[in-house]
This record gives sequence, C-alpha cells and structure tokens, in this order.
Amino acid sequence: MGPSSSSSSLLALLSLILLLSPWVRVSSASGHDTFLQCLTTHAQHQSPISDAIFTPDNSTFLPTLNSYIRNSRFLTPATPKPLVIVAAKHKSHVQSTVVCAKQAGLEIRIRSGGHDYEGLSYISHHPFVILDLFNLRATTVDIASETATVEAGATMGELYHAIASKSNVHAFPGGVCPTLGAGGHISGGGYGTLMRKFGLSVDNVLDAEIVNVEGEILNKQQMGEDLFWAIRGGGGGSFGVILSWKIKLVKVPETVTVFEVERLIEEEATEIFLQWQGVTDKLDENLYIRLMLNSANGKDGLKTGKVSLGALFLGPANTLMEIINKHIPSLKLQKEDCSEMSWIESALFWANFPKGSTSEVLLDRAVRPNTFLKRKSDYVREPITESGLDAIWKAVMETERVGIVCNPYGGKMGQISETETPFPHRAGVKFKIQYSTTWKEEGEKEADERLNMINKLYEAMTPYVTKNPREAFLNYRDIDVGSSTHWNVGEGKVYGERYFKQNFERLVDVKTKVDPHNFFKNEQSIPTR
Ligand SMILES: Cc1cc2nc3c(=O)[nH]c(=O)nc-3n(C[C@H](O)[C@H](O)[C@H](O)COP(=O)(O)OP(=O)(O)OC[C@H]3O[C@@H](n4cnc5c(N)ncnc54)[C@H](O)[C@@H]3O)c2cc1C
Ligand SMILES: *[C@@H]1O[C@H](CO)[C@@H](O)[C@H](O)[C@H]1NC(C)=O
Repeated sequence: MGPSSSSSSLLALLSLILLLSPWVRVSSASGHDTFLQCLTTHAQHQSPISDAIFTPDNSTFLPTLNSYIRNSRFLTPATPKPLVIVAAKHKSHVQSTVVCAKQAGLEIRIRSGGHDYEGLSYISHHPFVILDLFNLRATTVDIASETATVEAGATMGELYHAIASKSNVHAFPGGVCPTLGAGGHISGGGYGTLMRKFGLSVDNVLDAEIVNVEGEILNKQQMGEDLFWAIRGGGGGSFGVILSWKIKLVKVPETVTVFEVERLIEEEATEIFLQWQGVTDKLDENLYIRLMLNSANGKDGLKTGKVSLGALFLGPANTLMEIINKHIPSLKLQKEDCSEMSWIESALFWANFPKGSTSEVLLDRAVRPNTFLKRKSDYVREPITESGLDAIWKAVMETERVGIVCNPYGGKMGQISETETPFPHRAGVKFKIQYSTTWKEEGEKEADERLNMINKLYEAMTPYVTKNPREAFLNYRDIDVGSSTHWNVGEGKVYGERYFKQNFERLVDVKTKVDPHNFFKNEQSIPTR
C-alpha cells in the first residue's frame, strides 16, 4: 500500500468512527443524563459533587481512569470504558452514586486501589459508572488504643507509613505491595508476611462503615453480625461500598530480620524445597518464609530449576540462623545473608525498594513500569513427594516464564475456624500457591503465549493441590475459576465454593437479605437466592 491509499483508508476509518460515535452516545444517553442530573440534585452535598464527576468530555477522564489500572492487559482502547467516573470526595458522594446509579439503571464498579487482577473494579460489559474511592484516603492511627481507622481509598503503604510514623513496635498484617487499596484488599481477605503470627487483615478488623444499596451508611452495630461477617473476606463489590475500616494494630519487636537467597537444583534446591515443605507451616509463628520455584539458567548454561526464599523473622538474626540451620540445613544460610531492621524497613524490603529508601516511598501512588499480568492460585494440604517435585520442576522449566510462589500457612492461620470469616483456607493448609506470569510486550501474541503457559502449569499441578473443590484465593482474582452472567446460585457455586468452600451458602443468604435485587455485582460476585 502506498502512502495515499493508507491515508485514505485512515480517513474511511475515521469517518466510520465519527458516524458510529453519536449512535453509541445516544444509546446510553438517557441513563447517563438521568444519572448526572440525579447526582447534582440528590441530597445536600456537604462538598460540591461536580468536582468529583468525570465524563469523557473532561480532559482528565482517561488519565483518571488509567491511573488506577494495575494490569496493562486492561489498559487498551478496546477495554470497555465507563460512562462516568465519580471520584467521591465525601461520603455523601458515595451515597448519591449508589442511589442515582440504581435509579438510572446503570451498573456500578467500585474501585479503591485498582489491583483486581481481572480488572473487575473498572470494567463492565454493560453501561456503567465507576465509583472511585482514591480521594477518600484518610488514615488515623491511635497508639494508645492500638487501633487505626483507614478509609477505603487509602493504600497499604499509606497505612504502614502512618503507623510507623507514630510507633516502631506496631504494624498491621496486610499485603506486601504498598499501592494495594484498603477497600478491595481487606474485603478480599488480604494477607502479608505477618500472617503466621497475626492472621489475615480481616482477622484484625474491629469495625467498618459501609454504604448499603439504599444509600445508607452503616457501622458494625447497624449492619449486624451477618453483613459484618460477609465483608471480612467475602469480597468487595457484592454487599455495598466500604467507606472505611477500623482495625486493630499488632505488636512487633523493634528489630526484625529478613533474608533473600536463591539456589539452583545443583545447589540442593530440591532438598531445600522438601525441608522447607516439611516444616514451613509448623515453624515458630514469628517466622514467615516464602519460597519461589522458577526456571533458570544453570552454571553450565543449560536450563535448570531455582528456588528463591524470602523470609521475615520477628526477632534477631542469631535466633533466625539457629532455626534455619536446624530445619533447612541445605540452605546453608550465612549470617551475612540476614539483615536486621525495623518492621517498616522490612516492608520496604518486601516491596523491593532499594536499600536505604525512606518510608516516604510508601506514599508514592504512581504505577511503576506498565506490566501485563496473569495470576492463578492453589492450596496445598498434602506434602508433595520428591517424585512429584521432579514432575513440577519439569513443568516449571517447560513453562519457563511462569513462577510458582509458595506462601506458608500454619501458626495463627490454623487456629481460626474456617467459618469465623468467609475466608475458608485455614487449618490443614500447608501453603498457598500463586502462579505468576508478568510481561512487558504489547499485543495478543505474547499474551496468548503467557496464558497458555500458565494454564499448562496449572494443569500439571492438579495432582498436588486441593480438589473438590480446588480451592482458590479470592484476592488472586482469576476469571477462569468461573463467572456469572445470570447470577443464580448454581452459577455462583462454581467459583463461590472454590473461593469460600462451605461459607458460600451463608454469603448467599447475607447477599439475598441485604441486596435482594442484586445491584452490587460483577462477574464473580455473590448471587441471590
Ligand atoms: C502488584 C500486586 C500485589 C499484590 N499483593 C498482594 C498481597 O501481598 N497480599 C494479598 O492479599 N493480595 C495481594 N494482591 C491482590 C490484592 O489484594 C487484590 O487485588 C485486592 O482486591 C486489591 O484491592 P484494591 O482495592 O487495590 O483493588 P480494586 O481493583 O480497587 O478492587 C478489588 C475488588 O474489590 C472491590 N472493591 C474495591 N474497593 C471496594 C470498596 N471500597 N467497597 C466494596 N468493594 C470494593 C472491587 O470492586 C473489586 O471487585 C496483589 C495484587 C497486585 C496487583
Ligand atoms: C468535568 O467537566 C464539567 C463540565 O465542564 C465540570 O463541571 C466538572 O467539574 C469537571 N470535572 C472535574 C473533575 O474537573
């Protein structure tokens, strides 16, 4: 094609788009206008709501939409866009958005930190509005009562920073990535390196404020035990909009110790895995050791396997060395591998900030280099045998660009009953697996290859993980475990029992009671009866 013919086909394309776009607008204009009108007239806003409303006519619409998309697979022109984004600046804006979207027949998607691996917090295939909470981000830490209040749009990094700026012996057991939003992360049962000692984020929630489907603000006492139970792990987006959490802080020592080491198969990676697996859920609950299996290049240049271990110990390096030398001797851990630091420094270490960074980096919300992601999860309750591990090594080397991340359970996790919160993966779990593949190349080809690889590895892992149901972690959202189009209990059971086991039925009861017409929904939300 010569330049003239390509520019004329471009012209044709442009006029097609111009022809089509008014039609696209008209088809959704009514709901859209009703919604905007309702927003400006509904209730008396204590703060002007127009500053919170973004439509495609605002030049800041796309940048606002994109700034909280944490998976570049959903950062394309083809990704469905909302009609409106309401970036609530006041609780009353949240109330109005719920009431008005319901009235206008529009779906809403609720977004706090935007880390949903499948983009469910900002994508819908029906006309929709994003209720964005990034402006509601206050955190108040009260060391005297060892509690904090954190608004849904605050990040875990902001929370950790706020805690550390008041105390060097307090912490909160939340996730490792500092840009996680409190709204989605905590309601999904978020966890981090303190989980073996203190359990999940939801095990340390004291109260919450939620906007229900009627647009009312309810606290724990007003919402009742059932709803308060459901939002602590049953997932955001099914029951209402979380405005804030009141959480219990936990006590950590002034000095903690971390290490990170890697070993190839020729450096006893297999023995290390087996030793780790034998003790990881039984060790001192002050010790959390994450283990990763990856494909690597051996010293001979040939493909081989590698384990990487990262640890957080709530205590000094000497004690940590004793524990490791006794239980995982093949690691040959050296004192120089260990670094003593404060808990907040360990949070920076786990988040991969360069050594010496100050905790202010935790306040940075900017998305780092755009990456494309796919994640899946599994749970392991029976030890994997050496021959099983051989097969896994083979699969890992074949599916080269997918890693297996193993997170130890036990400790506090085993002491909390499966029905205490909707999160059911408690006693008996040795470790959880995250399958992880991350890429930078645009386009379908790389994406398809990655998805094929991760599916292949997931398939190969079937014999070694839980079955009936094959348990999955809600926060590691994976659309392949099932999805709803009609939101009936039968459809919901498919993913519901994998995420919640027997708690699914109680979640359906709560949902039916608090949102009988299923206003709060996404592809994996809890259905009504
Ligand atoms: C880089 C990265 C690292 C991660 N590390 C960890 C980790 O260490 N530990 C861990 O447990 N998980 C981790 N996750 C998973 C993460 O916890 C979940 O994706 C979590 O749901 C993110 O919450 P969010 O508010 O950032 O996401 P969002 O995408 O905003 O929301 C996730 C879900 O919650 C709903 N939701 C959000 N806010 C609200 C609200 N205020 N009220 C009601 N519903 C709401 C959304 O609609 C959506 O369904 C990680 C994810 C990423 C991308
Ligand atoms: C978007 O544009 C409208 C109309 O000009 C304006 O009222 C509103 O304040 C703008 N929104 C933001 C967030 O600036």
